[in-house]
Order: sequence, then structure tokens, then C-alpha cells
Amino acid sequence: MHRYSCLVVASLALVLSDTQSQSSSPQPSLKDAYQGCFMVGAALNAAQFTGQDQAEDAIIKAQFNSVSPENVLKWEIVHPRPNEFNFSLADKYVEFGEQNHMFMIGHNLVWHSQVPKWVFEDNNAQPASRKVLLERMRHHIHTVVGRYKGRISGWDVVNEALNDDGTLRQSPWLKIIGDDYIEKAFRYAHEADPQAQLYYNDYSLENEAKRKGALALASTLKAKGVPITGVGLQDHVNLDSPTTDQIDATITEFGKLSLKVMITELDVDVLPSSPHTADVSLSLASDPKLNPYPDGLPDAVQQALAKRYADLFRTYSEHCGLVTRVTFWGVTDKDSWKNDWPIRGRTNYPLLFDRNGQPKPAFDAVIQVAPKRAP
Ligand code: G3I
Repeated sequence: MHRYSCLVVASLALVLSDTQSQSSSPQPSLKDAYQGCFMVGAALNAAQFTGQDQAEDAIIKAQFNSVSPENVLKWEIVHPRPNEFNFSLADKYVEFGEQNHMFMIGHNLVWHSQVPKWVFEDNNAQPASRKVLLERMRHHIHTVVGRYKGRISGWDVVNEALNDDGTLRQSPWLKIIGDDYIEKAFRYAHEADPQAQLYYNDYSLENEAKRKGALALASTLKAKGVPITGVGLQDHVNLDSPTTDQIDATITEFGKLSLKVMITELDVDVLPSSPHTADVSLSLASDPKLNPYPDGLPDAVQQALAKRYADLFRTYSEHCGLVTRVTFWGVTDKDSWKNDWPIRGRTNYPLLFDRNGQPKPAFDAVIQVAPKRAP
């Protein structure tokens, strides 16, 4: 090629590469955008923290500085039979969090769901006594929290102990031990790791009755000197409920008790017949009318989702520091629990990354409303 032509080609290549690098500026990250305000986390499934899902692995490392285990630390998985613990997946979760310098959550210690039947029974399949159940709870908490002492920084100690009307749920824990089971769980967790943050975690706390019940529970625990450090608002929400005013008031009210507030399981359901709750026992019949977007989300709904996410993050940011973490319940739409609840096999769109791991308009909206920091 002629020398002059070579120069022209080289210059053109430079111009093109410059244009490309300008148009493909690096994707912003959620964790950087909200640095100084709160951590941004995601709940992980086993495929994600064992490296089987490379695409999601890259998103997790780039976007989040906190992780929660979606299922692997639940009782039925780590403690399936008396005196038999299985930490193989939980250990991998903790190794992943450490390798990536993430603030790790343990989810969860005492819940009514995903607990094997034997926990609540004696040798004759009759309800266990208070003494036996308290000892099982203590042994479980000491073993699990003790194993990850100094590594897992915060634990959902008691999960979903309240009914929608704010009264205590009639779980086997309550029926057998009595209402001090909550206090005992926190005390055992504190014994096992005195440095760990300890949370009460629940859904629908924005609703007046349930919020009142949770505030009464938390203030009673505080008055008794029970080592509770924070409250987790799950925020499995819909496009229009609860209102951001309700969310704002809920954060403020828990803040008045000098508790940290965390958004622990955020997702936004865009499908019909999805109640604002996360009651895992709820199950509805399948019906194509209730699965309206199997081939993609219409633009109007995509925009409504982006607006909803912007409103949510604007509200959370108004409480920077009081809200210490916002965690999404999943990474991409592909593996969200919302595809199977309360109706199995639907196509839902509740998160910021689509089924191919691409950021959605809602991602840009969340980045855009992040508080501006001084340069
Ligand atoms: O592991 C089995 C697998 O062997 C089997 O083939 C498959 C068939 O359905 O089921 C698998 O278990 C499922 C498990 O998730 C792991 O994927 C269970 O059926 C399913 O019920 C279970 O759902 C989890 C749910 O908690 C159970 O209570 C969801 O993934 C998890 O996202 C959800 O998380 C809860 C929080 O812990 C507490 N707050 C509400 C939130 C949403 O329900």
C-alpha cells in the first residue's frame, strides 16, 4: 500500500476507535453510584457463587458490594437432620464473598419455612418441649453463626415472625417456646459472634398494622437490652404499592428506635394478581391471562418499571446513613423467584438486569437518581 494511503487508513482507524470508545463508555456501577449513602447488594443462588454462571458472575463483581445467600444458609440445607450439618454450599458462598471483599449477610436463622419437621418434634412425632426446642435453637445458632464468626457480618436472626395484623405468627417456634423465642434467638446469635450485626427481617412492614406490630416488637427488644442492631424491610413490592410515602414513613419510624434500616429483598413485580406480600405459602392457579408478557415487556411497562425504581431509590437516598444497605432479591430476571410465585412458570421482570444480563432502563434510572457527590 502507498505510504500516504497507509497514513489515511491509520488515521481513520484512530478516529473510529476513538468514536467507539466514546460511545461505549464503561457501564456505571450501582455500588459506586451509592457509595457514601448505602451498600448495594444482591441475593445469590449456588450457580452464581460457584462460578457456573459466568455472565452473572461478572455482573455481581462489577455492581454489588454486599451479598446474601438466597437459600443455602437456610435450616433445611445446613442442618437437615439432628446432629448432621452440611456446610458445603454455605462455605462456597462465604469464600466467594471474601474473595470479592463483600459485606456478607447470613439468611436466616429462625423462620417458620424451610425448617425440617424433626426440629419441632420429639422421638414420638409429638411436639417437642420448650426446653428441647430452645436447646435445638441454641445449638443450631451457635454452630452456624460460630462457624462464620468474623466473616459473615450481619445475620437475619428472626425472619417473618409477624402476621399482617401485627400480631405474632402462630409458628411452631411461638407455639412451643412462647413469645420469648425471638429474644432467645438474638441472645444466642450474640453469644456466638458478639461483633455481628443482628436483624429482624420481614415483608409488608409498610402496612400500618404490621408496621405497628414490628415497631412494638423492636422497641420491646431494645428496652430489654436484647442485642438487635437493625430491621430488614424486604420490599417485595409492586408497581404501585406500597406508596413511597409509606416506605418513607416506615424507614423514619424504625430510625427513631435507633435501629439501622436495610432494604433486604428488593424486587418490583409487574404482573397481575401479585399481592404485596411475600407469604411463601401462597399459591394461585395458572392462567395465561395472568402471564401477559411471555415474549417481552411492552415499552410502556418497561418505562413504568424504570419510574418505580427511580422513585424507590430517591426515597431510600433521602435516608442515607440510616438506610445502610439496599439488597436486590436476585441478579437478573431469569432466575428471580418471582417467575414461580404466587403462580408457577410465569415470565416476570422484577430486577435491573434482563434475562441476557443486559441492564434495563430501570438500571439507568437507579443510577441517575443517585445523590450527586462533590467532585
Ligand atoms: O432445591 C430444590 C430442587 O432440588 C428441586 O428440583 C426444585 C423443584 O422445584 O426445588 C428446589 O427447591 C426450591 C428452592 O427455592 C431452591 O431453588 C424450592 O422448591 C423453592 O420453594 C425455594 O424457594 C425459595 C423460597 O424462599 C422458599 O421459601 C426461593 O428460592 C427464595 O427466593 C425465597 O426467598 C424468601 C426469603 O428467604 C424470605 N423472604 C421471602 C423470600 C421470597 O419468598
